[in-house]
Amino acid sequence: MAHTIAIVNQKGGVGKTTTAINLAAYLAIFRKKTLLIDLDSQGNATSGLGVILEGEIANTYHLLIEGRSLSSVVQPTTITNLSLVPASPDVAGAAVELVNQPEREFRLAKVLTDAHASFDTIIIDCPPSLGLLTINGLVAADSVLIPVQCEYYALEGLGQLVRTIELVKTHLKPSLTILGVVLTLFDRRNRLAHQVINEVRKHFPGYVFDAVIPRSIRLAEAPSYGVPIVKHAPWSPGAQAYRNLAQEIMALEKQSNLIGKGAATSATMVADVVKR
Ligand SMILES: Nc1ncnc2c1ncn2[C@@H]1O[C@H](COP(=O)(O)OP(=O)(O)OP(=O)(O)O)[C@@H](O)[C@H]1O
Ligand SMILES: [Mg+2]
Repeated sequence: MAHTIAIVNQKGGVGKTTTAINLAAYLAIFRKKTLLIDLDSQGNATSGLGVILEGEIANTYHLLIEGRSLSSVVQPTTITNLSLVPASPDVAGAAVELVNQPEREFRLAKVLTDAHASFDTIIIDCPPSLGLLTINGLVAADSVLIPVQCEYYALEGLGQLVRTIELVKTHLKPSLTILGVVLTLFDRRNRLAHQVINEVRKHFPGYVFDAVIPRSIRLAEAPSYGVPIVKHAPWSPGAQAYRNLAQEIMALEKQSNLIGKGAATSATMVADVVKR
């Protein structure tokens, strides 16, 4: 069975897509057969992997709304072992059209059933909202990876995110766990950023990955070349950080049955931490 990870934070611009692309690329380089699903109508994971949606290339919209098979939607990428389900602006329509569909929260989970035999890891890049597309991402996932930007308002909205994960667990996907929090856009010259790291580690004891993703021009410019950081600047600190994150996640996968950073992780425990 593939380990399916949804990358979620309803806050915009926190590094979800950058994490999705680069984590997926390193997992693929470590020989995991990896599928990245772009669930965002902005299509940043799609363009960031150099996939150009010309003409009628099928995408997440067709998968979710038109019932196309997964194999008809999957695209190869420049990285061996890494495939992509692209997104186009049409996906914004999917969010609206899903509302009237039967079993609307389970559409992605259903179409991914076949993928479990073909892939080791499935990464879902979710949009910056807690709407139906993200709910589909959560229901299809085994675990949630939450990127948190090292800035003053970092913890804002995390309570709501954890409550949403709780609701999904209770009503739709009891086995969903929180894989962990990854700190992103860290600027070591900024004193506040160090304080934020301490604060986040205090709020989520045992849930924060050791790998901290630095703010890096190399990471920001890689998408304009349509490649992950491993192809653009493999020796840069940003590349090393994503490599380390991939290794930490692989170690967790080995160690336990896809249980998150905390030993007996459950979203409830994290919810308690946030409430305190
Ligand atoms: N570690 C980093 N260093 C420098 N720039 C970064 C880093 N991570 C992300 N960025 C840049 O910040 C912007 C937002 O990042 P990204 O698209 O990954 O966030 P997101 O959470 O997916 O955004 P959205 O909520 O819009 O989907 C992008 O321009 C990206 O290139
Ligand atoms: Mg994004």
